[in-house]
Amino acid sequence: MIALLSMTTSATIGQTSVTEVEVNTKKTIAQINPDMYGVFFEDINFGADGGLYAELIKNRSFEFTDSPLMGWTSYGKVLIKEENPCFERNPHYANLTFNGELRGCGLINEGFRGIGIRKGDTYTLSFYARTPEAAKIRVEFFNSNNDQVQNLTVDVISKEWSKVSAELTASFTDSHARIRLGLVTKGSIDMDHISLFPKSTFKGRINGLRSDLAQALADLHPGILRFPGGCIVEGNELASRYQWKNTVGDVENRPCNENRWNYEFQNRFAPDYFQSYGLGFFEFFQLAEDIGATALPVLNVGMSCQYAKAKELVSLNELDPYIQDAIDLIEFANGEASTKWGALRTEMGHPAPFGLKYLAVGNEQWGPQYPERLELFVKELRKQHPEILIVGSSGPSAEGKDFEYLWPEMKRLKVDLVDEHYYKAPEWFLSNAARYDSYDRKGPKVFAGEYAAHTRDKRNTFEAALAEAAFMTGLERNADIVRLATYAPLFAHVDAWQWGPDLIWFDNLKMYKSPNYFVQQMYAMNKGTDVLAMTMDKKAISGQENLYASATLDKNSGEIILKIANTKDNSRTIAVTLNGIKRAKALKCITFAGNANDENSFDKPLNIVPSETTLPTCSKNVVSIELKSKSFNIIRIAEER
Ligand code: AHR
Repeated sequence: MIALLSMTTSATIGQTSVTEVEVNTKKTIAQINPDMYGVFFEDINFGADGGLYAELIKNRSFEFTDSPLMGWTSYGKVLIKEENPCFERNPHYANLTFNGELRGCGLINEGFRGIGIRKGDTYTLSFYARTPEAAKIRVEFFNSNNDQVQNLTVDVISKEWSKVSAELTASFTDSHARIRLGLVTKGSIDMDHISLFPKSTFKGRINGLRSDLAQALADLHPGILRFPGGCIVEGNELASRYQWKNTVGDVENRPCNENRWNYEFQNRFAPDYFQSYGLGFFEFFQLAEDIGATALPVLNVGMSCQYAKAKELVSLNELDPYIQDAIDLIEFANGEASTKWGALRTEMGHPAPFGLKYLAVGNEQWGPQYPERLELFVKELRKQHPEILIVGSSGPSAEGKDFEYLWPEMKRLKVDLVDEHYYKAPEWFLSNAARYDSYDRKGPKVFAGEYAAHTRDKRNTFEAALAEAAFMTGLERNADIVRLATYAPLFAHVDAWQWGPDLIWFDNLKMYKSPNYFVQQMYAMNKGTDVLAMTMDKKAISGQENLYASATLDKNSGEIILKIANTKDNSRTIAVTLNGIKRAKALKCITFAGNANDENSFDKPLNIVPSETTLPTCSKNVVSIELKSKSFNIIRIAEER
């Protein structure tokens, strides 16, 4: 009988070696933050425009810096003007003049590496226009073979700027379509903010999000949504930093900004990467609410990206507007409708507060300039908003000189959480599973704000996913200190990415989930409320004999949840004694197993996924689990009474 074996780690029954471990089901050693396991959204890899944000027209406002026609091909007499604009903060517009020339006159938009159109779906085409005489715009769609596949004609009659819109139901499917808008009556017309939007968006929201991508986020059951970056918060220069106030209010008047991931990697050059801010702070808060996550915005601390050339710093006596941005953001999220920013939120359609409780200041900063600036934020935030939990940064790496300097500084400033980032080899994740076992419990808590296992070729392989799963048992075991965690980055457009690996890959019509996605989902859907001590030879299980494990109790259901990664090349049996209960009953066993190089793809989106497997056998309070080689397993157990 397994239960009668002595207390050594492994025992042999016949030819089978059994690893013995114990769980104390009666003693909670930590409580898990309900916000645990979440997602980090940054507009990288065309994650926002061309990705989650459902707009299909690139450069709809003709505002791409120095290239107002980027994304468009013009023919005939087309000028870019800014006199008497329709939108003060996006002043450029296209002026088309047609005098019957054979070449015609118009604009063709290429979309975000093509426009994704699906047969049977309805789309809203809209633009703002004015014309001295009545004008007709012929709208034509071309598929990737360059065949004209659908068209409609739109009348414009207003002499003043006014919105024109039309709906159409697509008669074709193509992920690389293009749209042409031609002026077919003689005369001239001014056009701006030319938009093509699928009618069906996530939760049916106007100016909404691509349903399949947002649904993939909802299906992760994230506890937290960190946004909007990342380095994008910092900007290459301060002028192009992410400023939340530019991302709220009427969508047409949100000033377009460059995206700092445009020229970052010469081998992944994306000069057409800008931010329309159609997906702005209101939409982020709304998304967090829609997917049941708590929002965690990140704000600029008064420093531009330290990796970039400019390395700009706001002097301490000029930091007030930055601090005011933080105070105003809290008002935007939580203030009464009678306050300035609460009124804007209400006007935008959300009278109830969003319930903001976390605020991060700074992303990957380093050096003394960071705490110097953060200190001023902390002072003012504590004074005006002691209810807000402040997140500070420990720099770009989770070890080394900058990290060693910043942690004590974060303690000195008494921030609530410290954001740690680690993009490391799978081996690092495995050897760091005990990283938090010895962390100081008295200071700030930890937010693992960006992490991912990077294999040599930086692909989303099962090897990386398994290493993350094993490592995350260490996050869970230390839930008293590790309060939040978000994998990074989240999205990548297969034709326009800069950074890999990423959680979810998509093209203009489809998406697939990486093995890493499934690991995050397994954790988020099986987190439990309380951590229980799970030991092998009285020690936490953090890599001994290639085993990594954590145990939690879900106080709501009374279930015990075991998470066990076996990184060995062999299958094995593990006998878990659940001290404190008389009879165990296995309810569910989910196994995620595969080969190191296994990946998902558009062709095989479910090539490697977790699946429910045979329930382990239970003898009294001992659960015997067959672990496949290279597998991550979740076992849900109830006490049988
Ligand atoms: O996640 C991609 C980038 O990695 C983030 O923008 C930055 O914070 C980190 O360097």
